[in-house]
Amino acid sequence: MARRLQERRLVVASHNPGKVAEMRDLLGGHVAEIVSAGDLGLPEPEETGTSFAENAALKARAAAKGAGLPALADDSGLVVPALGGAPGIYSARWAGEGRDFGRAMERVQRELGTSADRRAWFVCALALAWPDGHCEIVEGRVDGVLVWPPRGTRGFGYDPMFLPAGRDQTFGEMAPEEKHAISHRADAFRKLTAACFEG
Ligand code: IMP
Repeated sequence: MARRLQERRLVVASHNPGKVAEMRDLLGGHVAEIVSAGDLGLPEPEETGTSFAENAALKARAAAKGAGLPALADDSGLVVPALGGAPGIYSARWAGEGRDFGRAMERVQRELGTSADRRAWFVCALALAWPDGHCEIVEGRVDGVLVWPPRGTRGFGYDPMFLPAGRDQTFGEMAPEEKHAISHRADAFRKLTAACFEG
């Protein structure tokens, strides 16, 4: 049985205002007050984990300990089985200092070469940690295939080359509401809400 969130205040363990705003929306009415790790001046821990879940948990635990409040963190990325799971937890790093995802997508395409296996999935791990060290972790996923050339100018990151299963528009072409209904992040939030925020 998962531990439920009873506290009124929750820290979102991110220094990225866009991510904090998105989490605020996704948490909806489940939490009375949300503060960000950035607002509290908490340091950003190094992401030394070897999985999405480990990285989410270490960020959530560091923020919960630092703030003395429950904290929520995420870690996400693109998994390509034909590349041995890459870019995986290194998805952001493949774009380099300039956060150039055109370059990151070109690298994925180059490394895939003529591989017939173009399957890919996005993963989002969410970790909810308490100051006593307890941590609940869920993982969301959306499956699809990689297309080339990239299509669409919406979304971010690897969206233009990701065609979700059963759809004819890439995440880069889809309306944001459509992406949000089926995304790895929505899947993870549904699971976390059921486990820790409802009932
Ligand atoms: P994080 O912010 O450390 O979790 O890094 C996530 C990285 O994974 C982003 O910089 C993107 O490269 C990639 N990523 C995660 N979610 C998505 C998505 O929904 N669309 C496209 N790229 C994504």
